[in-house]
Amino acid sequence: MKRFLWLLAGVAVATTVPAADQAFVSTADPAKGQQIVSTVCSACHNTDGNSTIVTNPKLAGQHPEYLAKQMRNFKSDGGKPAERISPVMNAIIAAYSEDQMRDIAAYFAEQKRKGDTAKNYETIEFGRKIYRAGDQTKGLPACAACHGPAGAGMPAQYPRIAGQFSEYTEAQLRSFRAGERTNDSNKMMRMVTIKMTDAEIKAVSDYVAGLR
Ligand code: HEC
Ligand code: HEC
Repeated sequence: MKRFLWLLAGVAVATTVPAADQAFVSTADPAKGQQIVSTVCSACHNTDGNSTIVTNPKLAGQHPEYLAKQMRNFKSDGGKPAERISPVMNAIIAAYSEDQMRDIAAYFAEQKRKGDTAKNYETIEFGRKIYRAGDQTKGLPACAACHGPAGAGMPAQYPRIAGQFSEYTEAQLRSFRAGERTNDSNKMMRMVTIKMTDAEIKAVSDYVAGLR
C-alpha cells in the first residue's frame, strides 16, 4: 500500500505543469514540434529530450519559455552575432522560425525528465550547502532562491536544473564566470558565478544532478 501511494505521488508530480507553462503550451503545437525533433534534434538530445551524452543538455521537462529564449539567443539576428554562442546550435537553429521554435519548446516541455545522481560522495554536503544557502561571507546567493528548493526552476525566467548532467552544468557555470555565455538577463548568472571557486562549481554541479 505504501509503495502504491508512492507511485501515485510520483505520477501527480510528473503531470503537474505550472500555469505559466500551460499558457505557453496552449498557443503552440507540440505535435509539429515533435516532427522537427524526431528528424533533427533527436540525434543529440534524443527524441524525448533525455540526451544520453553529457555535453548535450537534457531538454525534457524544461520550461518552454526558457527553451524558446535559448533558441532565439542561438539565432543570429539581422547579421548581428548570436547572443549565445555554440557553433553546433548556432548553425542548427538558423533554419527555424519563431513559431517552429515555440512548437519545439512546447514539445520538449511536455516530456518527462529522467534524473541523474550525484556521484561525488565527499562533496555532496558542500554542494547542498551552496545550493541551499550560498555563502553569506562573500555574498554568494543560494541557487535555491532562483531555481527553487528542488531545482525545478520557476517559469518563465528561471530554468529547471535538477537532474541535468553535472558535466553540462559545470561547463555552463564556467562559461558564465568567464563571461563567454552572456545571454543571462541582468547578468544574473555572471554575478553569481564570479563569486564561485572551481571547487564550489564542481560540488554544486554534482549536487544538482541528483536533485529531483
Ligand atoms: C549535433 C548535436 C546537436 C543537435 C543535432 C542539436 N543540438 Fe541542441 N545542443 C547541443 C549542444 C552541444 C548544446 C550545448 C551548447 C552549449 O554548450 O552551450 C545544445 C543546447 C541546446 C539548447 C539549450 C539548452 C539549455 O539548457 O540551455 C537548446 C534549447 C537546444 N540545444 C535545442 C535544440 C533543438 C531544438 C535542436 C533541433 C532543431 C537541437 N538542439 C539539435 C547539440 C545539438
Ligand atoms: C538571481 C537569480 C539566480 C541565482 C541566485 C542563480 N541563478 Fe542560475 N540562472 C538564473 C537565470 C535567470 C538563468 C537563465 C539565463 C538565461 O536566460 O540564459 C540561469 C541559468 C542557469 C544555468 C543554465 C541552465 C542551462 O540549462 O543552460 C545553470 C546551470 C544555473 N543557472 C545554475 C545555477 C547555480 C548552480 C546557482 C547557484 C550557485 C544559480 N544558478 C544561482 C538565475 C539565477
